[in-house]
Amino acid sequence: MNPAYAELVAKINRWDHEYYVLDNPSVPDADYDLAFRKLLEFEAENPRLITPESPSQRVGAKPIEDYVKVEHKVRMLSLANAFSIEETYAFFEKAARELDLDVSALAIFSEPKLDGLAVAIHYDDGIFSYAATRGDGQVGEDVSHNIKTIKSVPIKLAIDPPPKKLEVRGEVFMTKAGFEKLNQAAQKNDSKVFVNPRNAAAGTVRQMDPKIAAERDLQFIPYGIGEYDGERQFTLHSEIIDYLNDIGFRKNVNCQAFSGDFKHFECNYQVMEHLREQLPMEIDGIVYKIDVLELQNTLGFIARSPKWAVARKFPAQNASTRLLDVDFQVGRTGVLTPVARLEPVFVGGVTVSNATLHNMDEIERLALEIGDSVEIQRAGDVIPKVVRVVERGNERHAIEMPEYCPVCGSSVERTPGQSAFRCTGGLICAAQGAERIRHYASRKCMNITNLGTRLIEVLYERGTLKNIADIYDLKASDIASLEGQGEKSALNVLDSIEISKSTKLGTFLAALGIHEVGEEGAKNVANYFKTLDAIQAASFDDLLKVPDVGPVTAQHLVDFFKDAYNKGILEKIIAAGVNWPEQPANPEQPQMLSGQTWVLTGTLERMTRQEAKALLESLGAKVAGSVSKNTDCVLAGVDAGSKLAKAEALGVEVIDEATFLTRFNPLLETHQDG
Ligand code: IVH
Repeated sequence: MNPAYAELVAKINRWDHEYYVLDNPSVPDADYDLAFRKLLEFEAENPRLITPESPSQRVGAKPIEDYVKVEHKVRMLSLANAFSIEETYAFFEKAARELDLDVSALAIFSEPKLDGLAVAIHYDDGIFSYAATRGDGQVGEDVSHNIKTIKSVPIKLAIDPPPKKLEVRGEVFMTKAGFEKLNQAAQKNDSKVFVNPRNAAAGTVRQMDPKIAAERDLQFIPYGIGEYDGERQFTLHSEIIDYLNDIGFRKNVNCQAFSGDFKHFECNYQVMEHLREQLPMEIDGIVYKIDVLELQNTLGFIARSPKWAVARKFPAQNASTRLLDVDFQVGRTGVLTPVARLEPVFVGGVTVSNATLHNMDEIERLALEIGDSVEIQRAGDVIPKVVRVVERGNERHAIEMPEYCPVCGSSVERTPGQSAFRCTGGLICAAQGAERIRHYASRKCMNITNLGTRLIEVLYERGTLKNIADIYDLKASDIASLEGQGEKSALNVLDSIEISKSTKLGTFLAALGIHEVGEEGAKNVANYFKTLDAIQAASFDDLLKVPDVGPVTAQHLVDFFKDAYNKGILEKIIAAGVNWPEQPANPEQPQMLSGQTWVLTGTLERMTRQEAKALLESLGAKVAGSVSKNTDCVLAGVDAGSKLAKAEALGVEVIDEATFLTRFNPLLETHQDG
C-alpha cells in the first residue's frame, strides 16, 4: 500500500475511534475534514488502490437486492429470564450446586442488558469481513452493509498481530436521543414513527439501503465472542470484555464484578434500576454471568440458553387498559394536547390513570376511539403514553377537538400544515399567561434578571401581572408585600426591569413569544425590516422574503400584529420606555443572511463554489470551511462527505443545490446581472 495513503487511513480510523468509541476527539473538525478530503481525492484518482480498511468504505455501498442467509458456526443463544432477586439467586444456587461450589464463591460479572438486537461481526486477520443478525440462533441474515456504517464498529482491529479470526457478538441499539430525533423527523415527513428505540434499531438494521442506517444514530456494544482463532487466551469473561475494548470497541458502562452473595445481587439491582433513567440508551434488565470461562464450559447449555448467565428483567413497563375519555389541556404556548383518561392500571410499580396522546394526528394514526382497549407504556418518570389499540371497544365514539379553548373560551384553530391545534386567545388566555411572561423576562429575551419564574407565577396568580406590559406597572409594594420578599428585593426587581429596557429589536421580537418565531427567526426579521413599524406593517408576502421565514411563521407574525389586544400591549411597552438602537432602513440591500455562517460541501452542478460563496457573502453570510454547532446551514452538493455527516449529527440544517436555487435564484440572477 502507498505509505502516505496507509498513514492517512490509519490516522482517520484512529480519529474515528477517539470520537465514536472513546468520546474523546483529539483533533479539530477542520483537520478531520481536510484529511478526509485528501483521502477521497486520493481514492478517486487511484480507485484500484482503495483498501477495505479505509474509512471511506463505511458508506457508499449499494443497496442490497435480497437478504443472504448466514450460518452461525457457534450457535447464538438467548438468555433465561429472572423476575426477582430470589429467582436470580436461585439460578446461581443451582449452577453452584452443579459445580459443587458454594454460591458465594462464584465470581459474578454483571452487565446492563441493552435493549436492541443481537449481531455477530466477523473479522478476518483484523479486518471487518461481514456481520449477521441472530436469526433463529443457527442461521441469521447478512447485514454487513448496515453494520459497517456504525462508527463505533471498527473496520480494522487495533491490535498487531490481529487474531486470524474473531467473531464479536453484541447489541446494536439506538440511543434515546437518536430515537427522539428520528421520530421527530418522521412525524414532520409523515413517515413511519417507531414505537421504541429497539424497534427503530431493528427496523434500521433490516433496511436494504445502507444510506438510511448511515444517517441514523446506531451504536454497537459487544458482550462476548463467538468464533475465535488468536494468540491471546482468556480465563475470565471480563477479560474478553476488556480485550474487545482494547482492540477498538465501546465498553458497556456500569458493569460490575462481585461474588454471588444475595445482598450483592440486591444492591446491584437497586443501583442499576436507579441509574437506568440517566443512561443514554434503553436497558431492559441486567445480565448476570459467571465470570470464569472454565466454569461456563462445564455448565454448558440447556435448550437455547446458557446455564451460566441469566437476564434479570426490569418490571414490564407496558400494560393494557381501557380508554374512558379524552380531555384537552392547554399548554403554555396555547397548544391543546389530548390527554387520555384511563381505567387505572398498575404498571412498572405505579398506578396509571392518565396518558398523553400528543396530538390529533397521533390519535388518527392509532385509529383510537373512546371505549377502546389500549396498550400504554411507561418509561420512568416520563408521562405514560398510549402506544396502540389492543382491541376495539363494543361501544366506541370518536375523539373530537373542542371548538373553543377550555380555559379562555377563545376559538381553537389548526395552523395549516401542522399537527397542533392552538387556542387563539394569545395573551388573553390564562393557560398561556404566566409562561409568556416568564419567556419575555428570561435571560435570552429581555433578561430581567431579578424577575424569576416563581415570582412571576405568584404575581400572575394574584392578578398583579396579567400580561407582559404589566411588568412596567409593577410597584415596589406589589413585590415587598409578598412572602419571602422585602423592600430590598423589590427594588432589585424594579432596577433590573429598568436596565432591561435597552435591548435590541430582534431580542424584543423574540421575547414576544410569537409562535414559530425563535431567537434566530426574530433576528432575521429584525435585520430585514430594521424597525418595529416596518415589521408591523409587513404583509404576508413581504415576510416571506425574509430568509428562513416560511408561510407558517409569516402567518403567525401577521396574525399577531393585526390583533388589537396585542397592538395595545405593544403600545404600552414602548410607552414604558423599552428601546433599541435604530438601524437605517435599507430595503435596497437587504442583508438577508447577516450573522449566519454557511458551509459548502460536495460538488455543485449548476454554479461554481465561488459563485455560491460570493452570493452568500453578498447576502451577509460568512462562509466557513468546517461544520460546527455554530453553523447555520450546509449547502451540500453531490458526493458530500464527512461535513454532511457531521452536519446531520449536529442537527445543522442541510439543503441541496435545488433547494438553494429555489430559495435564492431570483437573487442569484440579480447578483450575476449586477
Ligand atoms: S449475553 C449466551 N449480555 O439479550 C448469552 N446479552 O435476552 C448471550 N443482550 O440475545 C447473551 N445485553 O441480544 C448478553 N450484556 C448482555 C446483553 C445481552 C443485551 C441481549 C442479547 C440476547 C438477549 C437475550
